[in-house]
Amino acid sequence: CGIVGYVGPDEATDFLLEGLRRLEYRGYDSSGVATLHNGDLAVTKTAGRIDQLASALKQHPAPGHIGLGHTRWATHGPANDENAHPHIGGQRVLALVHNGVIENFRVLKQKLTEKGYTFGTSTDTEVIAQLLDYELHRCQEVEDDELRVTDPYHVLVQAMQATLSQLRGTYGLAVVFRDWPNVILAARLGSPLVIGIGDGEHFIASDQSPLVGRADKIVFLADHELAVVTAESIRVVNRDAGDVPHDVKLLEVDEAQVELDGYPHFMLKEIFEQPETVRNAMRGRLDHDQATAVFGGLNLNAQQLRAVDRMVLTACGTSWHAGLVGEYMLEAFARVPVEVEYASELRYRNPPLSSNTLLFAITQSGETIDTLAAMREVKRKGHPVLSICNVVGSTIARESDGGIYLHAGPEIGVASTKAFTSQCVVFALLALYFGRLRHLSYEAGLRVIDELQALPELVEEALTTNGQVRKIAAKYSGCDNFLYLGRQYNFPAALEGALKLKEISYIHAEGYPAAEMKHGPIALVDENTPSVFIVPRGGVYEKVLANMEEIKARGGPVIAIVNSGDNEAAEIADDVIHVPAVADFAQPIITAVPLQLLAYHIAVLRGCDVDKPRNLAKSVTVE
Ligand code: G6P
Repeated sequence: CGIVGYVGPDEATDFLLEGLRRLEYRGYDSSGVATLHNGDLAVTKTAGRIDQLASALKQHPAPGHIGLGHTRWATHGPANDENAHPHIGGQRVLALVHNGVIENFRVLKQKLTEKGYTFGTSTDTEVIAQLLDYELHRCQEVEDDELRVTDPYHVLVQAMQATLSQLRGTYGLAVVFRDWPNVILAARLGSPLVIGIGDGEHFIASDQSPLVGRADKIVFLADHELAVVTAESIRVVNRDAGDVPHDVKLLEVDEAQVELDGYPHFMLKEIFEQPETVRNAMRGRLDHDQATAVFGGLNLNAQQLRAVDRMVLTACGTSWHAGLVGEYMLEAFARVPVEVEYASELRYRNPPLSSNTLLFAITQSGETIDTLAAMREVKRKGHPVLSICNVVGSTIARESDGGIYLHAGPEIGVASTKAFTSQCVVFALLALYFGRLRHLSYEAGLRVIDELQALPELVEEALTTNGQVRKIAAKYSGCDNFLYLGRQYNFPAALEGALKLKEISYIHAEGYPAAEMKHGPIALVDENTPSVFIVPRGGVYEKVLANMEEIKARGGPVIAIVNSGDNEAAEIADDVIHVPAVADFAQPIITAVPLQLLAYHIAVLRGCDVDKPRNLAKSVTVE
């Protein structure tokens, strides 16, 4: 879900709507805004996209210089008008927006029902709104008159602290109060919130993107903190104690990064940014003299890193696929045993970890709750934890002992593209680094550096397949099942190719190690089930050709991603896509490009909403 807030001299809905559009990738089932005007709360909510909210507001404008907005990815209750946020507490006393999940909401709801509260929705959020109303009344009854004069918001902070201490789960939330028309209260535990500092105005948002063009300076709220925000001031208070100082940082995102820039979709824009983002991932990190990689933020010395005897890589979704690529690279270059675990499994599994196990959390957003929880669990047991993140200042980046940023710029399309290739590059750098701490020779290190440096141009070359891929997409866009097959480094590439297609075109697709296909998936093969083979030249090339023949023998169409000049594979396949030849380890970075384009064009041809596929959200801050 995405949250925005505004307090200042302007009409609040201007920023709220614009901000929600920038956050729409975080969830887009339903949306809503609440503003305060002439002593009353005006709440407008609609199921569907922000455009629907915008037209509702056009018909019934919601004036006011303070307000909140929300775009939802449903957790509790269907995506209808009622369940959309903001939610009202008490007799229109307050309006609240929430991102996260309150696990004990049923118990709290029961208690409040016994006290006479009624509920109009099935959401966990309405329970927070009513609980806050209840606590506010309680605190007002005993409010000290003198204190009210010196600190008009004291009672709000008290009520908020009392409310938050009863919640189990995660939240990023913001509230406006009918009787305190100049203040927004915001709080976080597990779900991100940023405050933007404008000129006589303040903004609240789930991430930095809505603040572009509005604020240059920002304050990240930390877990267990709540903020009291007026047009003129920001105060940060600990949930269980008093005021805490807050750091003001500079906004890291610029306008071009959050606009379409002439592309029809963010996904296509981000695919085409990859020559640059691949370059950025290695910028300043290659050391020719020592034939190794250098990182500024690992925060562990060479001695500690040399002692590492096992690595666990944890992540979700596409980042998990990048972890699989990383596993192959790290084991090949550094000879360290590596395991890749879904974060949602790792967090509850309690695996035995030797004292020299190093954990890597891989995440584009740095906010995925499963990855965060798995990381915290491993950290609690005393193991060093490093992160590979794209979003600077994100929770996982801050809570890890050290890490490596991707520097890929904001990724807005819900289906991850440029973050994946950057994550693979960072793993190649890590494999080089760990390799050079151990067994990898100077010459081998230099070779890897040369291969890495060539990548941006080769990614550029891979992008020239776009026209050809579009034609192939047109030929197969009517199919309802796809197989993606590859071996070694191209097995995770196959998984990622299949995931891309599933996510944005809603076509069933399975990624498999090419040879394993005969143990099951081959039963799916028929003339309407294309197999996408990722088969650049390399160690297992001949073997994969044999797998291709097996599919052809059963009447299945074959699309093959092969190296330029490869006629052998072209003779077997129905359609070929030529990509430049690279070292084995770099193949997933190159082959990712036509795979992304194939999914993109098929989805466009099927009329799907490429940037906002159904049921998905970019940043999943719920379990
Ligand atoms: C969501 C997104 C995926 C993403 C995954 C992990 O499911 O839709 O595209 O790969 O989360 O996100 P992260 O930000 O942790 O990489």
